[in-house]
This record gives sequence, structure tokens and C-alpha cells, in this order.
Amino acid sequence: MPSVAISENIFYVGAQHPDRRMFDCLMPTPHGTSYNSYLVSGTEKSALIDTVDPEFLAGYVRKLKSLEMDAPDYIVLLHTEQDHSGSVAELLKIYPNAKLVATSNVAQLMKTHMHVPSDQFQIMNEGDVLDLGGKSLTFYKIPFAHWPDNTMVYEKQSGILFSSDLFGSHYAFDKVFATDSHEIKDAARAYYAEIMMPFSQHVRKYAEKVIGLAPQMIASSHGPIWKDPSLILKKYMKWTGDKVNKSVVIPYVSMHGSSVVIMERLTWRLAGKGISVLCRNLGESPESLAIETGHVLNDLVMAAAVVFAIPTVLGGPHPAGAYCALVVNALHPKTRFVGLVGSYGWGTKIGEIFESLTSGMKKAEKLTPLLIEGLPTEADLVKVDEYADQLAAKILALGDDLV
Ligand code: FEO
Repeated sequence: MPSVAISENIFYVGAQHPDRRMFDCLMPTPHGTSYNSYLVSGTEKSALIDTVDPEFLAGYVRKLKSLEMDAPDYIVLLHTEQDHSGSVAELLKIYPNAKLVATSNVAQLMKTHMHVPSDQFQIMNEGDVLDLGGKSLTFYKIPFAHWPDNTMVYEKQSGILFSSDLFGSHYAFDKVFATDSHEIKDAARAYYAEIMMPFSQHVRKYAEKVIGLAPQMIASSHGPIWKDPSLILKKYMKWTGDKVNKSVVIPYVSMHGSSVVIMERLTWRLAGKGISVLCRNLGESPESLAIETGHVLNDLVMAAAVVFAIPTVLGGPHPAGAYCALVVNALHPKTRFVGLVGSYGWGTKIGEIFESLTSGMKKAEKLTPLLIEGLPTEADLVKVDEYADQLAAKILALGDDLV
């Protein structure tokens, strides 16, 4: 897409990557992504805020030149990760007089990750202001709104908050402003799950700070711009809050049909108790593991419980179930209960290994595993019913903690 004026003398100059299907070789991006960059032009100076993924550098430079501006005076870096700062060394060859501006955290990581010397930076501290003449950028540190270096800057005159990864979405777009469409909000939630959820305590404080700033727009480094900031701020306050939904997520794998019998009985019984159940088949196709694990994370932004329904393979959990558990454990969802059910052939150590895989979920109550030898009998299914009844009772007892 061409550059777009989003306010007087402030332009969107980012790049769209609609074909991207994975991020960090980990997160599915079914809607692609965008690498957002902005040009803020004051009466005295101009500043680029962030750059684009190196793959898109040539088109990016063409876009900047089409604005018929002089070289930018400043390149403001809000975050080191390569999708935003990987083009900087090449960009400096094109604009050698541009001054790099960032916090010391960014400068330090730029030295180690991009080999850009720290003395090339004008260092900004918390609350420092970069004056452009009629426009100004105030710097606020937001560490661990992905990496330790993330920074947001507020342009007071236009009321635009440039929020780095915070409030972003992996969503390639042809219209620069977000709507309240289901698809856009779902992409923002998946992004929250995969990028922000591990740091939800920090992120909540940043959302509160942004509410206090009362910006007119939030321009993140990924996805469309929030022209109505309340759309995303309300969601962040809900996602980072303590309340959970009356729902259970069941990631499952079944090689020969026994574990799926357990999953189906558990689902049926929980649904009968008024609990919503989301089942995710990790083993349906070669792509299922990454895609369905992404769905599990999205589900767990608000779900009260996760129960893995996975069989034993070679004494331990089926590797697809182990992978999903490992990722869930790393992303620290606020889920209150974690469970394991599944079948085994003739012996199993799955309980001990699963306990280790989920050891980081310290706030969640660990349910006693329900492991069934071979194809479940009617007597085994009664045990599944009891398991479901106990879990449903625990969830319903959360009372005011339920949304
Ligand atoms: Fe979009 Fe953490 O980089």
C-alpha cells in the first residue's frame, strides 16, 4: 500500500506481508502481518518511527522518497527485534546523516543483535521529549511488552501514541484504520496470547498508563491503527484481568481412538453442566500442531481450565501433546485448572513428565490425572463423568471470578 496521511504531517509508511504464515518460527499468522513505520514531520525536524523487516527495505525506501521529503533527521527505534530494526544498517547507508534515537535498552540490544555501536544513538530516558518543531515525541519505557527494550512514544499535538509491539496484531491490511470487525479483534487477541500474555502483569500496568494518557489514536508496530483506542484498551483490561470464562480447552491427540473417546465423553459431560468446551486436534494433519496450538493459546486468554487429552507413547506423552503443554506452560495463561487425561497401552510415566512440562503454571490447580489402560470400558467412562463433574463444580465455584 502507498503512504497514508494519518494526521497532519504524520504518515503511515509501513510494509504489508500478507503471505507470512509463521512468526518467530512459532506463531501461526493466518492473516499475514505488517511492519508499521511512521514518518512524523515537524516544522524543524522529521523523524521516522521504526523501520520495516529487511525483506521490504527497497519498497520502503521508494515509499519514503515518493513523499518528496528531505532525508529524515531522526530514526527513532522503539524496539530492537529484526522485524522493526533489522533494516537500520542499510537505511543509514541511504540516509547517513540521520541520527538514531532510542532508550539505552534499545541501544544496548542494537549493539549485541545488529552490531550498531551504542555511540551512534541519542539516548532518551523516561519522559524525555524529542522536539521536532510543532510536534514532539515523549518517550515511555514499556519493558517486556515483548522484549526488555520496548518503548512507546506519544506525539502530544496529534494525540497519537506509537506503542511498538503493544496493542498490535498480526494482520496485513489495505485500510490503515482498524474496525471493530470480529476478524481484526480475534487477530489482536491471538497476538496478545502469543506475545503479551507471558507478561500480563506488566502489560496491564501499561494499558492503565495509556488510559491515563487518553490518546486520540494508538499506532502499533503491527496491524491496523486503532483510531478508536477504546476498542483495544477495553480488551486489554479484560484479558489482563483476573476473571475467566466458564470454559475448558481440550487439546487432544489420539492415535487409535482411545483418547478421543475420553475427550468426547469429557466434552459431553462438561457441556451438560453448562461449561463451554473448545476441543483442538493437535494431530489431524502435518500443519495441525502449530495451528491448533495457536488456537489453544488464543482460547486460554480467558478459559478457566485446560485439560490435555493425550495418549502415552514410549512411556511418556505423545510428542504433539508435550509440545503444546510446553508452549502453554511458557506463555503463562491465567487458567485456574490444569488437567491430564488419556489412554496408555501397558505402562506409563506420562503423569510425572506432564507435571514437569507444566511446572511453570504455579497459580493453576493441578487436577489428578485420569489415565485409562487401553480402550475405555463403560466403567472407565463413569470415571470420566466423575472427573468432568468435579471439574465443572470447581469452575462454577469460582463465582464472582467468572465473567
Ligand atoms: Fe514486532 Fe517484538 O517485534
